Amino acid sequence: MQKKILVTGGSGYIGSHTTLALLEAGFDVVVLDNLCNSSIESLNRIENICGKKPDFIEGDVRDEQTLDKIFATNEIDSVLHFAGLKAVGESVNNPLTYYSNNVVGSLTLCKAMVRANVFKLVFSSSATVYGDPIEMPVREDFPTGTPTNPYGRSKLIAEEILQDLAKSDSRWSIALLRYFNPVGAHESGTMGEDPNGIPSNLVPYISQVAIEQLSKLSVYGRDYPTPDGTGVRDYIHVQDLAEGHLSALNAIDEKTGVNIWNLGTGVGYSVLEMIQAFEVACGRSIPYQVVDRRTGDIAECWAAPKKAAEELGWTAKRDLSDMMADTWRWQKRNPTGYKS
Ligand code: NAD
Ligand code: WQD
Repeated sequence: MQKKILVTGGSGYIGSHTTLALLEAGFDVVVLDNLCNSSIESLNRIENICGKKPDFIEGDVRDEQTLDKIFATNEIDSVLHFAGLKAVGESVNNPLTYYSNNVVGSLTLCKAMVRANVFKLVFSSSATVYGDPIEMPVREDFPTGTPTNPYGRSKLIAEEILQDLAKSDSRWSIALLRYFNPVGAHESGTMGEDPNGIPSNLVPYISQVAIEQLSKLSVYGRDYPTPDGTGVRDYIHVQDLAEGHLSALNAIDEKTGVNIWNLGTGVGYSVLEMIQAFEVACGRSIPYQVVDRRTGDIAECWAAPKKAAEELGWTAKRDLSDMMADTWRWQKRNPTGYKS
């Protein structure tokens, strides 16, 4: 029998690409999403690509009854937990909303999993839990840092709760996947990131400048101690990330306790390198101005991807030109995202 996976937040950016990868790999999928930051159209696009569609439940991960019903009516093998809010700036203004969705949401899910006797969980964490690491590349055994905003803190708190939970009950097998900077889109150009309002992340912003929805990129600081003075990050293609989840799902079948894996490429690119790579992909120039540093930003951050390679047999395969070409294909064909 095919294994059935519950994917919370499965119509969102990373969740939808992972749902597609799961269906293509032969899993059955139930998506739970309240659509607060996504469109159900992403699930139609999945069907157009692979001929299969996940079961979809519109609901909130904080709703115990909804969760109990899903577990009672489906034989769920494992849970991939993407549901949550992710806008750093918004989290500063609405901390309670962020702790509620990201911390209470994770707690409520775990409690329902216990009731249903399901103990395999893959959690969407973030490199933000490392804070400002003292050296590069960032390894999983580095201490977690002090997040500079409620979003980051909510991820760290959720990680710590999951650690305590696994210590209390050996039936749990939990993967904490610390994503670096997810970018890119499905190579078909029919699925991708569809941010609400003006994007705060670099690549969606550049992409909207390229399509002339925004006039100019602001480069946040050119005085960092990096080769060209701009911030350096480890950008990872969303399809590589999706494949990383499948590998983690396999791995937690064999392991118990908490396992932490970085999902990154191991290579850092600066903001100026990103602009240049996007210009090559889209054949247009990206106007930009250098402005002050953004509060809370760090100079550089890239992953040590060795642990994931050794333990999951997973490495990112797609390079920067793939990330940019796929982002541009998606943006060009869907100038207003899934709303078109
Ligand atoms: P996204 O906003 O596209 O997807 C999150 C999905 O969860 C959305 O479809 C949203 O509608 C849903 N959701 C939110 N709160 C919910 C709730 N209470 N109940 C049910 N559904 C809810 O974001 P994404 O980029 O796909 O991120 C997925 C996960 O990965 C998030 O947990 C995020 O914090 C984490 N993450 C993202 C990044 C990134 O840069 N994109 C980096 C590191 C970690
Ligand atoms: C990348 C680089 C900016 C926008 C954030 C979250 C993190 C994670 C991923 C979820 C930095 C520069 C950006 C712009 C710019 N999310 N930049 N102009 O800050 O590494 O990480 O998203 O977990 O938690 O903090 O990503 O894409 O915002 O920025 O110059 O308009 O681009 O300063 O150097 P970041 P980002």
